[in-house]
Amino acid sequence: MDLKAYLKEQSRLVDEALEHVIPGEKILPHSLHEAMRYSVFAGGKKLRPILVLAACEAVGGRIEAAMPAACALEMIHTYSLIHDDLPCMDDDDFRRGRATNHKVYGEARATLAGDALLTAAFAVLSDPDINAGTDPAVLLRVVSMVSHAAGSLGMVGGQVADMESEGGLQVDLPTLEFIHTRKTGALILASIKAGALLGGADEQALGALVRYGETAGLAFQIADDILDIVGTQEEIGKDVGSDQARGKATYPSLLGLSESRRRAVELRDQALDSLDPFGEAAEPLRAIARYIVDRTS
Ligand code: IPE
Ligand code: IPE
Ligand code: MG
Ligand code: MG
Ligand code: MG
Repeated sequence: MDLKAYLKEQSRLVDEALEHVIPGEKILPHSLHEAMRYSVFAGGKKLRPILVLAACEAVGGRIEAAMPAACALEMIHTYSLIHDDLPCMDDDDFRRGRATNHKVYGEARATLAGDALLTAAFAVLSDPDINAGTDPAVLLRVVSMVSHAAGSLGMVGGQVADMESEGGLQVDLPTLEFIHTRKTGALILASIKAGALLGGADEQALGALVRYGETAGLAFQIADDILDIVGTQEEIGKDVGSDQARGKATYPSLLGLSESRRRAVELRDQALDSLDPFGEAAEPLRAIARYIVDRTS
């Protein structure tokens, strides 16, 4: 399949849907909605929403049923990036090819734009009109699952563990894996699960996709750690060398670059193996697993 064309088209569909659920800049307070839109429509890869749609497709579901969840996952992810870049966190200046949110709107407004995106994500995810046609019991399961994935047992918990291991502290591999599977893996896994559930997956298909999400999610953050070292600011659209500057616990800092690459490839192969029970409909998920480790941005 032509992955580049697929990603471009899915990303366009997600942008179109996001446009409908995020208030316009003309709506009060103007500055808040402008700040929210500044980061959402900055040309991120849209990997999480695309995974929601691809998982839905893999189990034979309708992508319209998964689109609200796709938007919600991208909104939660974007909030996490705005907060991740704040001076009290990673203190970065460049994101998605432009100045970070707080550099443009100030720290207070950036914090609140993140808060508003997080809250709005759950409004979109649970809205009865937006989700008309979806079984309320399935929707409730998705809302509950995503809220756990975003919170202290998931992404936020991972961010705290990441922060507490800064400053060149020698963390061991289990601790590093704890950080990565939460700060990044949790939302990637939640994207896969949301797409699968909204697509009507049975428990067996869900189990296989959970293995895909766990392995692909960890591989994604290992690749992110590698790109922080070998990438260029132009290509990745964010600051490079940020991890080393803050003494972050990363795969390359613990295992070196080549062992980190080997581990990412091994996880990619496990992700691909988990898709064995699926046919042609899982081709996008297979291509995305390869892209996660080969990407240069
Ligand atoms: C960056 O995520 C932050 C991580 C969790 C590693 P992405 O690399 O998916 O960033 P965007 O969405 O494309 O900007
Ligand atoms: C970010 O990890 C994870 C979240 C935003 C939850 P990083 O701090 O490594 O992400 P980048 O490299 O700044 O995108
Ligand atoms: Mg960080
Ligand atoms: Mg960061
Ligand atoms: Mg990083």
